[in-house]
Amino acid sequence: MSLYICSHCDSQYSKWQGQCDECNKWGTIAEESEHASLPTESVSIASSTPLERIPIAIQEINNVLGGGLVPGSFVLLAGDPGIGKSTLVLQIACALISPPCTQGNSSKISPPCTQGDSSKISPPVHRGGLRGGSSASVLYIAGEESPDQIALRLNRLNASSQNLRFLANTSVKSIIANIKKHKPDLVIVDSIQTIFDEDIDGTSGNVNQVRACASQLLQIAKQENIPIIVIGHVTKEGYAAGPQTLAHMVDVVLYLEGDRFHEHRLLRSTKNRFGPTNQVGVFSMSEKGLQEVKNPSEMFLSGQRGAIAGSVVSVVMEGSRPFLIEIQALTNKTSYGYPKRAVSGFDLSRLELLIAVLARRAGLKLDNQDVFLNIVSGLKVKDPGLDLAAALAIASSLSNQAMPQKSVALGEIGLAGEVRPVAHFAHRVEEAKRLGFEKIYGPSLSLRATGGSEAIPSINQISTLAEMLEILGIKKEQ
Ligand code: TYD
Ligand code: MG
Repeated sequence: MSLYICSHCDSQYSKWQGQCDECNKWGTIAEESEHASLPTESVSIASSTPLERIPIAIQEINNVLGGGLVPGSFVLLAGDPGIGKSTLVLQIACALISPPCTQGNSSKISPPCTQGDSSKISPPVHRGGLRGGSSASVLYIAGEESPDQIALRLNRLNASSQNLRFLANTSVKSIIANIKKHKPDLVIVDSIQTIFDEDIDGTSGNVNQVRACASQLLQIAKQENIPIIVIGHVTKEGYAAGPQTLAHMVDVVLYLEGDRFHEHRLLRSTKNRFGPTNQVGVFSMSEKGLQEVKNPSEMFLSGQRGAIAGSVVSVVMEGSRPFLIEIQALTNKTSYGYPKRAVSGFDLSRLELLIAVLARRAGLKLDNQDVFLNIVSGLKVKDPGLDLAAALAIASSLSNQAMPQKSVALGEIGLAGEVRPVAHFAHRVEEAKRLGFEKIYGPSLSLRATGGSEAIPSINQISTLAEMLEILGIKKEQ
């Protein structure tokens, strides 16, 4: 069967048509001519060589990528404007160009190992990995900022621009020409929304332009076996010309998350053709760029270790990593009208559900109370395993009675007020104990057995929310 492909946006059709539905260009669709070059012989998978990877000297990034950058891979780095994407890619570039002199878990980007060597571009290397880790070259397409601004950022990161080549031209054709000419070890495109193809209608950033440029970059990545990292902003007006448009065509999708008023940043893989998805790397944005956080649990706790009413610690799973977080609730008598419910980092409808369960199943009087719920340190969580901690925080604030010192609450809450099992229970408990939390309140064994979690000794087993409040001596306010 023949395949018809639009020469502008790479859309595929099973039969010829005059106009492309995707980019609306006329006369651009032609029968795929490369079919003849496709292999005619089937091969054994076992005979293929294992995937080659270019390790990045920043462990958190390596982990998220599944062990390093795969040559020829097309990686999309998405995130809100101002979150730190340009900083992150520049750090990746620097780590590739000048890997740290010392091994070990230094969390900083080390200064370059060697001085001198005035040539900016290293000679072409054997494709498919770096030679001995030295003299890698990176091509940085600077569509968002001037080279001066990037130089300032490099200064801030205490890194050198040696072997880092900048291209301030955002025409996809000249980018491709540069890649072919210099054959860098890594190409960074900051950002896809600034790249344009003069043969496509519309300004850079519109859907057709974004798609057409990305598909040409994808092609050159595969052809030259060079990894390309493309930055894509998450746009306010939905995702039209942003990451969503590209997710299906790229090999890896990374999201950099966080909020600008807090220092932590999470790098999350939502798609990875070469490794596990939902891996999370944790960083903190410092004066000198993004620093790896090896012990995220410590960062997300408030540091206030005395028992305070309204504050409960729990363990959240981000990908396969458990972090301790602190939930704070404040209840306050409603002064007029409807009681107010407000959240920060938590789901509002989940809070409303928990309030209803606390009222109906545990007898707490909350219909004349404003309730505020906050996840300390600006983390946004959706994990249902935090239900118990959130409900306890509310009950604790209402009764002005603190949870026991060094205690952690884990469990989902059902509509009947029952405490339900949570995924990765053992893993969460382990993390809590590692950080010195001794009292763990969790779902009862019988329920946990159905959830598939193994029995863990020294857990205070709780079957219902009402039972939990009784244990803590939180009185019903009737
Ligand atoms: P940036 O990488 O420009 O974000 P993006 O490319 O996602 O738009 O980073 C933006 C913010 O990061 C900016 O407000 C300044 C801050 N920043 C630091 O706090 N420390 C640093 O070392 C750097 C380089 C930036
Ligand atoms: Mg930027």
